[in-house]
Amino acid sequence: MNHQLLQETAREHLLLHFTNHGAAYDPEAELLVLDRGEGPYVFDTKGNRYVDALSSLFCAQLGYSYGEEMTAAIAAQMQALPFNTNWATAHPPAIELADKLADIMPGDLNHVFFTSGGSESVEAAWKIAREHFVAIGEPQRLKAIARRNAYHGVTLGALSFTGVPGFKEAFGRPAIDVSHVANTNAFRAPDGDDPAAFCARLLAEMRVAVEAAGADEIAVIIAEPVQNAGGCLVPPPGYWAGLRALADEIGALLIADEVICGFGRLGEWLGLEREGVVPDIATTAKGLTSAYAPMGAVLVNDTVADSLHGSGGPLRHGITFAGHPICAAVALRSIEIFERDGVLENVRSQEAGLQARLRDLLSLPIVGDVRGRGFFWAMELVADDANSTFDQGQRDRLLRSYLPKRMRDAGLIARCDDRGDSVLQIAPPLIADAAVLDDIVSRLGDVLADAGAYMGVGA
Ligand SMILES: Cc1ncc(COP(=O)(O)O)c(C=O)c1O
Repeated sequence: MNHQLLQETAREHLLLHFTNHGAAYDPEAELLVLDRGEGPYVFDTKGNRYVDALSSLFCAQLGYSYGEEMTAAIAAQMQALPFNTNWATAHPPAIELADKLADIMPGDLNHVFFTSGGSESVEAAWKIAREHFVAIGEPQRLKAIARRNAYHGVTLGALSFTGVPGFKEAFGRPAIDVSHVANTNAFRAPDGDDPAAFCARLLAEMRVAVEAAGADEIAVIIAEPVQNAGGCLVPPPGYWAGLRALADEIGALLIADEVICGFGRLGEWLGLEREGVVPDIATTAKGLTSAYAPMGAVLVNDTVADSLHGSGGPLRHGITFAGHPICAAVALRSIEIFERDGVLENVRSQEAGLQARLRDLLSLPIVGDVRGRGFFWAMELVADDANSTFDQGQRDRLLRSYLPKRMRDAGLIARCDDRGDSVLQIAPPLIADAAVLDDIVSRLGDVLADAGAYMGVGA
C-alpha cells in the first residue's frame, strides 16, 4: 500500500491503542505511519526521518539496526522448533534465557516466569505472590500498596495497581484491593528540596497506609524504581531501602516494576540496582528483547520460588504464548549484543553529559524542572517563572496539539504526558552516542523555545 492508501485503510480498519480516534483520524491530520528504522532513527511512509528519542515507547534499547542478527537467531529457532509452551514442558531457549537472567540479575532473583508483555508480568507477579502466601499459610494477604499516578498496565488485574483514576473509572471496581500513596515527585513537594525530610515523610505516609489496610493483610508493595507517569520521578536517597525494610517488617513482598527501568534504561540490568536494593519480585518486559519480539519476564527470588516448589499444588497461572521460543531466542541474542557492544557501559558513560545538556534547557522559561536517570529524562513544562502549572485548556493546547505537531516538524519523537503535571519525556535508544544525544537535546531546545513563545511563557 502507498502512503495515501495506508492512511485511508488505517482510518477504516485500525483501532489504535490509547488514542483519541476522532483526532488521530481527523481528515486534516496525518497518522504517523513508520515503515523503516536505522540506528536511533525511524522513517515514515513519506520518507521523513525522525530521531526516536522515545525508543518506541521505552522498548527499542538497541535501536533499529540489529535486524540481521535477530533474523539469524529467529531463523535458527524457526527451523529447529517454532513453538512449544512452558506449560509442564519447556524448550531450550526458555531454559537458557532463564539461566542467563538468573546470572545477570542481582541478588537471588534466580527464577523466571515468562509472559508476553508488561501488564501480563504485573498480573503474573500478583498471582505468584498470592500463591506464595497461600503456600506459607497466610492466605489473608489480599491487599497491595502502589503509588498515585503510577502506570502498571491496563488489563484488569494490572489496572488495579495503576494509579491514574481516569484510566480506571469506566471499568468498574478494581479486581485487587490496592491503596495508592504519594509518588516521589520532589519538584512540587513542600519539602522536595530537603531529600531526607521528603523521604521520611513519604515513608511515614506509606506506613500509615499499611496500618490502615492492616499490615498482615498486605501481600505486596509495588513501585517503579524511577516512576514514569508524572515524568521520571527519581526517589530520594533511602526511599527504596525504607520500602525494603517496611516490606520485611510486615512480611509483605516488595515488587519492583521494571517494565521501563529494566534492561539498561538506567544503566543497569535492573533499575533498582541504582538503589542497592533487591526486590522479592521484579516485573520486566519492553527492553528484554529490545523490542525485536514481544516478551516479558517475572523474576522471582529463592524464597518465593521455594514456596511454589514446595506447595505440592500447581502454579495456577499460565499464558499459552508466554516464553515463546522465537521471543526467547531474540532475548538471548539481545542480551548477548548488550554484553558484546557495551550497551550498559554506553548509558553509564553518557548519563552525566546528557543530564548536563538537558539541564541547560532550564534557561528556557517554559522548562521548570529536569529530572531522570540513565537514558530516561523528563522536562516539566511550566506556565511562568513561578513554575505555575498550566490549566486544563492550556495543557490540551500545548501537549495534545502544539507539541506533537511541532515535534513532528522537527523530526523528533518524544513523549508529551499529562497524567501528572505537564511533561515532555525522552528515553533514547541505549546505543545512542554523544552526537545523537546532542542532536536530540538541540531539537528539544528549538521545540521548547517555540512552545514557550506559543504559550506566552516568559513574555
Ligand atoms: C511500569 C510499567 N508497567 C507495566 C506496563 C504495561 O506494559 P504493557 O504495555 O507491555 O502491557 C507499562 C507500560 O508502559 C509500564 O510502563
